[in-house]
Amino acid sequence: MSKEAAKNENIVLIGFMGCGKSSVGRLIAEKMRYRFFDTDQSIVRETGAPISEIFATHGEDHFRDLETGVLESLRDKHGLVIATGGGIVTRVRNLPLLRELGFVAWLNADEDVIFERVSRNKRRPLLQTENPRETIHKLLVERMPLYERAAQITIDTGAGSHDEIADAVIRAARTSAA
Ligand code: S3P
Repeated sequence: MSKEAAKNENIVLIGFMGCGKSSVGRLIAEKMRYRFFDTDQSIVRETGAPISEIFATHGEDHFRDLETGVLESLRDKHGLVIATGGGIVTRVRNLPLLRELGFVAWLNADEDVIFERVSRNKRRPLLQTENPRETIHKLLVERMPLYERAAQITIDTGAGSHDEIADAVIRAARTSAA
């Protein structure tokens, strides 16, 4: 197998909270007969604590260490669709690691769409602020260049069904591996 194809043995989804990484990731896994892996879920499983509690007790830096640890533990794994937490790109060390794991797709959406999606759900610790709208804006400004640097393709999730988005990621991964 060529080096490029070997690199694409997993599919890695990055992107801001509320961009459908988990839902689309599960669909891709089903379609490709890959196994779905979620870095957030893995951390919750390993620590036995919900993410909000990890943030509250140990702080964000500690959570980021755990995320890097999960990525490192996946280095020899194949056939996975890996959905990552929205802040995974904030550790610059993670960028080459993500790429090493597989084909990296950025699921993106407009700020308005993101706000509308994440405000339905109160479980995200970083958005428990006085003005979540402003927080989203600030985090997006910081993270956009990082997502862009990490990703091999950007997919707008604002339009189109999860099914269409999953197919677009699969097509891109196959083209890149060909
Ligand atoms: C975070 C996103 C969350 C989770 C944690 C921090 C972030 O994952 O990792 O709350 O920094 O954007 P999702 O993107 O799956 O919501």
